[in-house]
Amino acid sequence: MDAFTPQPRPCWIAGHAEQGGQAITVHHPFDGTEVASVAVPGPEQVERAVAAAAAVAKEFRRTPAHVRATALMHVSQAIAARAEEIAETITAENGKPLKWADIEVQRAVNTFRFAAEEARRFTGDLQRLDTDANGEGRMAVVRRVPRGPVLAVAPFNFPLNLVAHKVAPALAVGAPVIVKPSSSTPLSALLLGELLAETDLPEGAFSVLPVRGSEMKSLVTDERLPVISFTGSTSVGWSLTESAPRKHVLMELGSNSAAIICPDWPDLDFAASRIATFGNYQGGQSCIAVQRVLVHRDVAEAFVPKLVEAVRALKTGDPHDPEVEVGPLIDEDNAKRVEEWVAEAVAAGATLHIGGGRDGTSVEPTVVQDVPPSARVWHQEVFGPVLAVSVVDSVAEAFEQANATEYGLQAGVFTRDVTVAFEAAAELEVGGVIIGDVPSYRADQMPYGGVKGSGTGREGVRSAMVDFTEERTMVLTGITL
Ligand code: SIN
Repeated sequence: MDAFTPQPRPCWIAGHAEQGGQAITVHHPFDGTEVASVAVPGPEQVERAVAAAAAVAKEFRRTPAHVRATALMHVSQAIAARAEEIAETITAENGKPLKWADIEVQRAVNTFRFAAEEARRFTGDLQRLDTDANGEGRMAVVRRVPRGPVLAVAPFNFPLNLVAHKVAPALAVGAPVIVKPSSSTPLSALLLGELLAETDLPEGAFSVLPVRGSEMKSLVTDERLPVISFTGSTSVGWSLTESAPRKHVLMELGSNSAAIICPDWPDLDFAASRIATFGNYQGGQSCIAVQRVLVHRDVAEAFVPKLVEAVRALKTGDPHDPEVEVGPLIDEDNAKRVEEWVAEAVAAGATLHIGGGRDGTSVEPTVVQDVPPSARVWHQEVFGPVLAVSVVDSVAEAFEQANATEYGLQAGVFTRDVTVAFEAAAELEVGGVIIGDVPSYRADQMPYGGVKGSGTGREGVRSAMVDFTEERTMVLTGITL
C-alpha cells in the first residue's frame, strides 16, 4: 500500500471527503510502523453528518430499487477491480495475513453483490384476510419500511467485510448509514467511503466518521439514529443498549465457539486440519474462531496428536508473506492478555501441547488440554490463537459442555449421522450449527448472529435488511380474492 502520507486520509461527511480537526495514526500491528494518518471529524462535522442522514431519510427510502441496486453493484465491482490494493490495506491496518485479507475482499465483493440482488427482490407480502368471516373481501399488503438512519459500529477484525455487512443492507433498503469504524482499522471503511462517493446515492445517504470510541456516546444516544448495528465486545455491546434503551439495537458480540468431534466422524485428518486452521486464522481474532474442542473419547487418542501436528504446520510470521497463515494480534496488550490466560490455564493444571509463547504482538499457536472450566481460555472469549481441548464420554456430554457458557454464536459438529445433526441443531444454544465443519464457516448471504451473551438480531444480507426495517400494513377492502 501507499507510503505514509503527511496529509491525513479524509473522512466522509454526508458523502463528501473532508479533513478533520485532528488526526489519528494507524500503526501496523506486526512491526508498529506508521501506516497512515486519518482525519478525525470534529463535533460540528459529526452533527452535519447526522443532520444530513436525518434530512435525506424520507427521500432515500423512496429511491427506486434499481438506483440502490446499481450503486451497490458499483461498489461490488469497484472492490473487485481494486482487490489487491484493498487486501494490502487490510493487512497493513489489521495485521491479518494477506491470504485471509484476500478472502475478506472477495467476501465483501459478494456482500455488496448480494445486497444489490436483494434490493431488487425486497418486496413484501400479500396476506389474505378472509380466513375469518370478519376479513371477507379484505387483503393486507405488508411492506417493510426502514426504521430510520442506521449507526453502524464496526470492529477491527474484519475492517472491510463487517462494515460491508452493515452498509450494504442499509443502503439496499434505503436507510442512510453512518459508519463508525474501529479506531485501530479505519482505512478500509474510508476506502469504502471513496467507492460509495462514486455512486449516485443522495447526499447524506452515507458518512464514515472515524471518531474515537470515547466520542461515540453522542451518536449512540442521538434520536435521529434510531437503529444501531454493533459488532464488537460483549461489554461495550450491552452498555450501548443500556445507553439507548428505546433504540433498535442489533448486536453481534463475542463467543468461545466449540467444535465437536463425534465418534462416527470418518476423517480425523480433515477435522484436525480444519480446526487447526480456524482456531488460528487471523490470529484467532474472529468471533467464530474455534476455541473449545470437544472430542469423543473413542477417537481422542488418534485425534489430539493430529491436531497438534496440524497446528505445528501452520506458518507464522510477517502477514505480507503470502505463505503465512498466522500473523500478529491487533496490539501488544491483547497479545499479553492471551499469553497470560494460557499461563493461567497451565498453572491451574491444563496440559500444554504446543505454543504458549509470545513475541511482541505475535502469540504462538497454542493447544491446551483439560483446562479447568474456571480458566479464562475456556469460559471467556480468548480472541487469540488458542485451542482448548476436552475429552468427553458421549455426544450428549459434548452438547452439555458446549452449552455451559454465557455465549452462543455458532458451533461445528463433525458427524455424518443425520439424527445427531438434527439433535445438535435442536439442542445447541447457538445462532448457527455447522455440520461436518468448524463453527467458523460463514456464508455472507446466510443468517448470522448469536443467542445468550453473543448478541441479538441477525446479519447476513437479507436478515439485516429485515432487521433494519419494520412491517407496515395496508388493508384493502372490497377486494375479490
Ligand atoms: C465475526 O468475527 O463475527 C465475523 C466472522 C465472519 O464474518 O467470518
